[in-house]
Amino acid sequence: MTPENASVARAYQRWSHVYDVAFGGVLQAGRRQAIREMQLQPGQRVLEVGVGTGLTLPLYSPAQTILGIDYSPPMLAQAQRRLARMGHPPHVRLMRADAAQLPFEDASFDVVYAPYVISVVPDPVKVGLELRRVCRPAGRVVLLSHFQNEPTPAWFERLLAPLAAPLGFKSDLLLSPLLASSGLRPLSIQAVNVPPIWKLVVCAPR
Ligand SMILES: C[S@@+](CC[C@H](N)C(=O)[O-])C[C@H]1O[C@@H](n2cnc3c(N)ncnc32)[C@H](O)[C@@H]1O
Repeated sequence: MTPENASVARAYQRWSHVYDVAFGGVLQAGRRQAIREMQLQPGQRVLEVGVGTGLTLPLYSPAQTILGIDYSPPMLAQAQRRLARMGHPPHVRLMRADAAQLPFEDASFDVVYAPYVISVVPDPVKVGLELRRVCRPAGRVVLLSHFQNEPTPAWFERLLAPLAAPLGFKSDLLLSPLLASSGLRPLSIQAVNVPPIWKLVVCAPR
């Protein structure tokens, strides 16, 4: 474990019990829009990177196979509890893995989805390259995140400030350089949530 990953893991250990209250409802519109934009087809394989407490999991159809990975055991434990409440749907599996070193073959998934993750990892480009690597050439990489250059109301910046450092959240991540360095070609970019300062970015692996 790198020191940076260890600090992210410590942060989410503290947050796992209150994460849904703090970030469930307020960011759910973006998760719903992401599912719509994926336009998932029956039989497709989806990798959800940084699945956290599994807030997106109830939104998938049983017609797809979903694998959720996260680095934080307490966040995964919350996701596991959610799956238990959902009756252990057989189309969803969880495992612990590092987004910067995904334990999968190249081109393993039809859709690789990273909700609210790329701005909290220590090396976003390394993770972006991994997302691209494990995505099929005709597949889609879907990023949902805050990026720099979004006009953010001052009151909201103040609200986020105490949360940013503990959660490892970087507010200065630039979208275009990240996509260029990760070999991802944007197909659509839309603002989501209220206030609409998060971006939903659907990409093709170059
Ligand atoms: C802001 S939360 C987002 C959780 C969830 N995707 C959501 O929609 O709310 C970021 C998640 O990314 C996970 N994470 C951070 N660094 C990671 C890494 N290197 N590999 C895998 N997961 C990581 C954290 O443990 C946490 O669960």
